[in-house]
Amino acid sequence: MRVAFLGKGGAGKTTTSAGFIRYLASKKPFVLAIDADVNAHLKGALHRTDWVNSGKDYEIGEEREEIIRYLKGTRKDLEGKDMVGTTPPSLDSRFISVSPEDELVKKYAAKSGNLALLTVGTYKESDVGGACYHVKLTGLQSFFHHLLDTENDYVVADTTAGTDNVATSLSFAYDINVFVVEPTKKSVQVYLDYIAVAPHLKDRTYVIANKVDNPEDELFILKHVEKDRLLGAVPQSKHLKRFEQGKKEALDDFMAEQAVVFEKVLETVEAKKRDWNKYLELLRTTHTKVCRDWLDDYFGFKLDEGLDTDFTYEKAFAKTQAKVPVSAK
Ligand SMILES: Nc1ncnc2c1ncn2[C@@H]1O[C@H](COP(=O)(O)OP(=O)(O)OP(=O)(O)O)[C@@H](O)[C@H]1O
Ligand SMILES: [Mg+2]
Repeated sequence: MRVAFLGKGGAGKTTTSAGFIRYLASKKPFVLAIDADVNAHLKGALHRTDWVNSGKDYEIGEEREEIIRYLKGTRKDLEGKDMVGTTPPSLDSRFISVSPEDELVKKYAAKSGNLALLTVGTYKESDVGGACYHVKLTGLQSFFHHLLDTENDYVVADTTAGTDNVATSLSFAYDINVFVVEPTKKSVQVYLDYIAVAPHLKDRTYVIANKVDNPEDELFILKHVEKDRLLGAVPQSKHLKRFEQGKKEALDDFMAEQAVVFEKVLETVEAKKRDWNKYLELLRTTHTKVCRDWLDDYFGFKLDEGLDTDFTYEKAFAKTQAKVPVSAK
């Protein structure tokens, strides 16, 4: 299952993502965390001190070309054409599993106990004046479209502020999109704008009310957000403030304040059954759209022509499972 936290700048996306990741890590054997925000603060918010990496703190936004080349595997259907973030897989692609043993996770993720963290990363000096974060996100898009995760796998992402996610194929990469919303008009509006522009995503989009001080705050949220979309409320936490002032044990008290909401997030995502065929259909439609909109012009040919149309994720699961060596079982 895949969960993304979205919302207005400063609403509490990183705090809530980190809390949910810690909550899952205390219950599940392995959690894959993704920092997909240009302001990469997730690692710090996880409050772990024992991170190890494979020799380098990778930013997958910087490594996107190498990642896409890796995922391309031995596929021949591209016939020398470029593979991009929205290119649907072929049976000859490489795939990813949610495991510390996965090649891509092993190389690019930082690890701390049963947590692995992939970071898209922020801008570099060379990006100043001419870079777009969507370009950095192409490796992550390809990552998700080649990720063969099951209901027992847990992937959680902190994302960029605002409605930005709607403009990439990451909008449908997650099983649920959870908006972290403060009880203010501006904060609620970001969620409302998102479902207005992408009504097809409404049934997978939910809200957590954050920094709620009193019953009026909850009533305010409920005036704008349908009851069945609201997963719960997290208080404006004194414990979090104490923790940020240096009182270490206050983090557990803050986690206790979040626990009921996180239980509901988990229950909600566990109730979703991903329809892999629909996912693939959406990916193919999206790829064709971006090809016609601008990729064809940019590359000088029709990038989506000749792609493996026999591919299904079911076949990919069957193929990769068959290839698992006995020693790795
Ligand atoms: N429930 C809460 N109670 C008290 N303070 C909170 C709560 N949630 C978040 N905060 C505080 O609000 C501030 C913003 O939180 P956070 O960095 O998580 O927001 P964000 O949405 O990730 O911001 P950005 O858009 O910059 O990425 C932080 O100082 C954080 O400690
Ligand atoms: Mg943040």
